[in-house]
Amino acid sequence: MFALRAYARSDAARLVYEGAPSPGLGPHDVLVRVHASGVSPGELDWPGAWLDHDGTPRMPPIVPGHEISGVVEAVGPDATGFAVADEVFGYTDVRRDGGDAEYVAVRADAGELAPKPASLTHVEASAVPLSALTAWQALFDHGDLQPGQAVLVHGAAGGVGTFAVQFARWRGARVVATSSERDRSFVSELGADVVIDYRGTRFEDAVPDVDLVLDTVGGETWSRSWDVIRPGGRLVSIAVPRPPERDDGDGRLAIWFVVRPDVGQLVEIGRLLDAGLVRSIVSDVLPLARGAEAYGPHARRSGPGKVVLAVAGG
Ligand SMILES: NC(=O)c1ccc[n+]([C@@H]2O[C@H](COP(=O)([O-])OP(=O)(O)OC[C@H]3O[C@@H](n4cnc5c(N)ncnc54)[C@H](OP(=O)(O)O)[C@@H]3O)[C@@H](O)[C@H]2O)c1
Repeated sequence: MFALRAYARSDAARLVYEGAPSPGLGPHDVLVRVHASGVSPGELDWPGAWLDHDGTPRMPPIVPGHEISGVVEAVGPDATGFAVADEVFGYTDVRRDGGDAEYVAVRADAGELAPKPASLTHVEASAVPLSALTAWQALFDHGDLQPGQAVLVHGAAGGVGTFAVQFARWRGARVVATSSERDRSFVSELGADVVIDYRGTRFEDAVPDVDLVLDTVGGETWSRSWDVIRPGGRLVSIAVPRPPERDDGDGRLAIWFVVRPDVGQLVEIGRLLDAGLVRSIVSDVLPLARGAEAYGPHARRSGPGKVVLAVAGG
């Protein structure tokens, strides 16, 4: 098969489109013919993607791309719940080769795959699983966001941020968001009540205190966010590199987490998409052969949302 393979951590220049062995089908696996793969531009920096399950370093090359949409091609002898020709989407194990390839092997019993939302194309569906699960878990599992509360979403025009704004709005929260000036009106249309251009305005001067901050940026953005949290509120970060946890004993908490597969949440998110309550935002579609352009700090992106790699017809 053909795949995009990474030869070095944090180095998009060493992503190569080339022939690669097809993934082996374990007894509990399904083999998915990938139609489209969503890109997380920072994935080559993720420490977990460079480790095996036993914590030892993975030997490059590795195949990135852990949110996919495609069709089940084969089912392992001990795999249950899926059949050949099922249309699926999912967030696949970052410690195995991913979906920037014609085929990906996924454990059937790990909660990583769900039926593709029927109303979405493969391209649209592939922009959902990892980003939407991260946003969902940040707001609801770790942030405990309640209707009527206020949330600040940093990086609101990004892969995770576009879902976070929509989910928070759907839950009935007041949404304050940061984005670049270019994306401000788009983020407003998605449902943010207030959108702050992060380059032009210091958000802490413009934001009333909030119950929750979702930090997708880290660094200085993370530290400045602490001061806009109400007593009892939370600063939930997903940023890479990982900021510290913080608890000053005044009721505020800063935590960081890594998204986990959750098929129940994926099915619920699929229902919201099929009901038209939430949208998948795709900024660009590139052929797999040009996938390297979508990775790294200077990745190509012409607008809000995610870059998707079209693999088998999209
Ligand atoms: N811990 C986890 O489980 C987990 C899961 C998923 C993702 N992540 C990480 O979370 C981060 C976000 O992921 P993503 O997929 O949403 O990335 P993304 O699609 O690249 O989006 C990042 C967004 O942040 C904006 N941005 C950059 N600097 C900013 C600042 N100072 N203030 C406000 N916004 C800013 C960017 O806007 P401009 O391009 O206009 O500047 C962009 O729209 C990445 O580091 C990713 O690796 C972690």
